Amino acid sequence: MDYGAVRYNMAEYWYFREEYEDKAHQHFNDLPEPVITMDFKIGERDFVNAGNAASQIKMALKRLGVDNAILRRIAIAAYEAEINETAHAKGGDITGNIFPEYVLIKFYDKGPGIGDIEQSMVPGFSTADDQVREMGFGAGLGLPNIKKNVDVLHIDSVAGSRTLVEIIVFFG
Ligand SMILES: Nc1ncnc2c1ncn2[C@@H]1O[C@H](COP(=O)(O)OP(=O)(O)OP(=O)(O)O)[C@@H](O)[C@H]1O
Ligand SMILES: [Mg+2]
Repeated sequence: MDYGAVRYNMAEYWYFREEYEDKAHQHFNDLPEPVITMDFKIGERDFVNAGNAASQIKMALKRLGVDNAILRRIAIAAYEAEINETAHAKGGDITGNIFPEYVLIKFYDKGPGIGDIEQSMVPGFSTADDQVREMGFGAGLGLPNIKKNVDVLHIDSVAGSRTLVEIIVFFG
């Protein structure tokens, strides 16, 4: 991808749960075709519809017979990422890719990007403004909670531009 070279401050963060690290690397090497793809859009500060993608993906996976405890982890992580996309960014696109053994959910937003990803991962760190706090968000626990619940977390951000958050959860 061409980000326009030196003008941007790009940053990347990867987390792999050890148990699934090899299988996850295989995904990123092979980039297989998903069996099912689900696309959603979320607007800025759209707290009415935020959470819709997370629950639709959860329902689709439930119909496919994914275990309840795993469904719960997927729903929590997807919900937090979806809220962040509407609360901290100008909204964007969400794509759920279902594979036979795992789900990959991508959250692409329209910026403004995350300046310091390591700092944003620290429990309690939040830049949420009053409107976001009035909605009950802003404890600074969303990203740590995502990490706790997923097998892969990838954050790719260009400060001043946009963020991609990708999560993978294996079905067992
Ligand atoms: N998509 C995003 N775009 C820009 N900044 C983000 C994005 N997601 C997270 N951040 C930044 O990272 C910080 C931490 O995010 P995190 O989800 O952990 O906490 P929070 O959203 O502030 O509060 P909580 O999730 O507990 O309601 C945010 O306050 C914000 O500064
Ligand atoms: Mg959050």
